Amino acid sequence: MRVLLPLFALILVTCAAGPRADAVPDRTRETMNRVFDSVAVLMPLAVDEAAFEAEENRAAIASALETLAAGSDLLQVHGVERDQGFQHLARALAADSAAARDAFAQGRAGKARYRVRKLTESCVACHARTPADAGGEFGLRLFHNMNVETLGGAELAQLQQATRQYDAALENYETLLADSSPSRVWSVADYLALNLRVRGDLVRPVPVLTALLASPDLPRWAQRDVKRWLADLERVAARPALEDPLEDARALIDGAQAQQDFPADRQGLVGLLMAARRLDAFLASHPRGEAAAEAYYLLGRVESRLGTSPRLGQVQSLLEAAIRMAPEGPVARKALDRLEWHLAIEYSGSGGTTLPEDVRKTLQELRALVEG
Ligand code: HEC
Repeated sequence: MRVLLPLFALILVTCAAGPRADAVPDRTRETMNRVFDSVAVLMPLAVDEAAFEAEENRAAIASALETLAAGSDLLQVHGVERDQGFQHLARALAADSAAARDAFAQGRAGKARYRVRKLTESCVACHARTPADAGGEFGLRLFHNMNVETLGGAELAQLQQATRQYDAALENYETLLADSSPSRVWSVADYLALNLRVRGDLVRPVPVLTALLASPDLPRWAQRDVKRWLADLERVAARPALEDPLEDARALIDGAQAQQDFPADRQGLVGLLMAARRLDAFLASHPRGEAAAEAYYLLGRVESRLGTSPRLGQVQSLLEAAIRMAPEGPVARKALDRLEWHLAIEYSGSGGTTLPEDVRKTLQELRALVEG
């Protein structure tokens, strides 16, 4: 009895605690498991052109693409109570999956294979907001059938992030950054993004970047970036966060922007990634209303400077969300101006006059909302 009693008490306490307020609904996890199962069939084949086009794999690929498209549709349905960023990425995954399925059905295996390899971008972008590792068995199951040698280090890390094997991805990046291949400089920003935005860890990258800076073959322009990032890791770690999360994010973005000589230079990366982390967390718990409008606008500013996966159209979707959340509020007007500018650039050559029909309609609707 002496032994049983504490055990019983422990069970009681655990049950009384109930589900966590921010717990992910089981159905999202269930859907993710279906999505993962199809990815575990598709990825090993997609890295090998001959295997993807082989007759004997045809039925398995077609069925996995069907399951993936259905699972992505379900994820969209589950996303309706979530923030707009989640919903947008769920739609992006559904669109990519459907395009891969249709291309494959039409006998365009090359195009389908390209789409499959691209769709991990939306997995990575959406998971950036959920820092915990998934069970290691996902990685084991995925890589069991796969010749990892056919992937470059950066592509492997991308796939590890897509399946939420964050520890494995961090270790893989660290190996990559320690070797002497010239392409490693392109992975530093992704490595920082995983540490800062996903994990909120400003300490782990310090020795890795310090070693990189000491390596004699690092190009000068990269030295300048890495030096700045090291200084910022220390500065941001020492800086007390402001109480209001939106004010804090704004201060981080303004600070980062002040360090950039050119909009696309990466000197402000550390501040931008930490701002993204604050905004992701804020929107997960406040997905609607006027404060959310401001948060979407700020996250749009961040994403436009980070410039990761422009194909996913996150900036436009965030600006649209900023307008819809509070069309009469102070943020909507500037969000609309920015969105019009973005679309004019994206469909440039026409000065924004020949927008695709659906884009034009949405824009018209947003204008009517703001202008009343
Ligand atoms: C729109 C958002 C979104 C997209 C896109 C997305 N996921 Fe997820 N995923 C989630 C959420 C939310 C969870 C649950 C997180 C948690 O448990 O904290 C999750 C969990 C997972 C898990 C762990 C499941 C478990 O049982 O613990 C795996 C594996 C996974 N996703 C794989 C993928 C793959 C592969 C893709 C791309 C083909 C993908 N996901 C795309 C949101 C997304």
